[in-house]
Amino acid sequence: MLQNLDDLRNEALKAIDQGNSPEALNDLRVKYLGKNGELTLLLRQTGKLPAEQRPAFGQKANTIRAQIENLINEKREELIKVQQEKKIQEEKIDLSLPGYRLRKGSMHPITMVLDEIKDIFIGLGFSVVEGPEIETDYYDFQALNIPLDHPAREMQDTFYLSEDLLLRTHTSPMQARTMEAQAPQLPIKIIVPGKVYRRDEDATHTPMFHQVEGLLVDERVSLSHLKGILLSFAQQMFGQDREIRLRPSFFPFTEPSVEVDISCFACGGSGCRLCKGTGWIEILGAGMVHPNVLRMSGYNPQEASGLAFGMGVERIAMLKYGIDDLRHLFQNDLRFLRQFEN
Ligand code: PHE
Repeated sequence: MLQNLDDLRNEALKAIDQGNSPEALNDLRVKYLGKNGELTLLLRQTGKLPAEQRPAFGQKANTIRAQIENLINEKREELIKVQQEKKIQEEKIDLSLPGYRLRKGSMHPITMVLDEIKDIFIGLGFSVVEGPEIETDYYDFQALNIPLDHPAREMQDTFYLSEDLLLRTHTSPMQARTMEAQAPQLPIKIIVPGKVYRRDEDATHTPMFHQVEGLLVDERVSLSHLKGILLSFAQQMFGQDREIRLRPSFFPFTEPSVEVDISCFACGGSGCRLCKGTGWIEILGAGMVHPNVLRMSGYNPQEASGLAFGMGVERIAMLKYGIDDLRHLFQNDLRFLRQFEN
């Protein structure tokens, strides 16, 4: 059996010497030293030897085991090194080349303007709430003093999910929802940013766009509060020199209703292409909350009054950044979007 050990060793050393890949050496490790390897099996026979020969056999077997193990490891490392060097030669890796530059993402201009609008109104004491984009006919229209079949619905045609469910046409339904949830408690001072939907599509209209609604309900709120709040907004958004002007308008849910213009920030009011020679640019619709709306949502118009306004975020972004076509905002063209990287 000692002779068997010597034969095994010689055979193994020869095989290792001829092994020409790290994988082949792994196979040899299994072949000789593995659980069912040849040396392992031989060792298991120890019990068949006369007792006095066993220690010598065991010792020798262990020495051979260590020898084989060391040789396999040495040879394997050698081969791996050769392989790596060959690969570096073949691929001609130039370690002095600069790495790939990772591009940083950037905020979408709509998000930037929304954040700015929110900051301004938070600074004026408003809190931010959001509402559902799938809305009921009641909150989108009826609670805002627009009964079924009222002609004011014509301008706000939308996508209906059923007779009673629709994609909201404005953020104003959150006026009714907020008042209803809080009545008769005063005050209410909220803005509502969010997506709205209309059946519209051309250079200045997309079927989805963003609005920010504002609502303030308290005792003795007046049109002068509305004017003061919107003047402060206009100046923070478009420059301290801005003035605003209110023009009479109509919304079924406000009375009186106004359109709000800011003095043109491009020409300062003397008239240019941006303001179409008028010196003024329209930025939003607003008014005093209609008594019917207050009543329907649980407030007594004798005790509470409110102001409300709604602005289009895309329009403000276009004005602020000089964007000439609304559709740029939704085409995801990186040449456009990268201009807003900072
Ligand atoms: N909801 C109106 C619109 O989308 C804007 C508005 C809001 C007007 C609040 C007055 C008061 O056109």
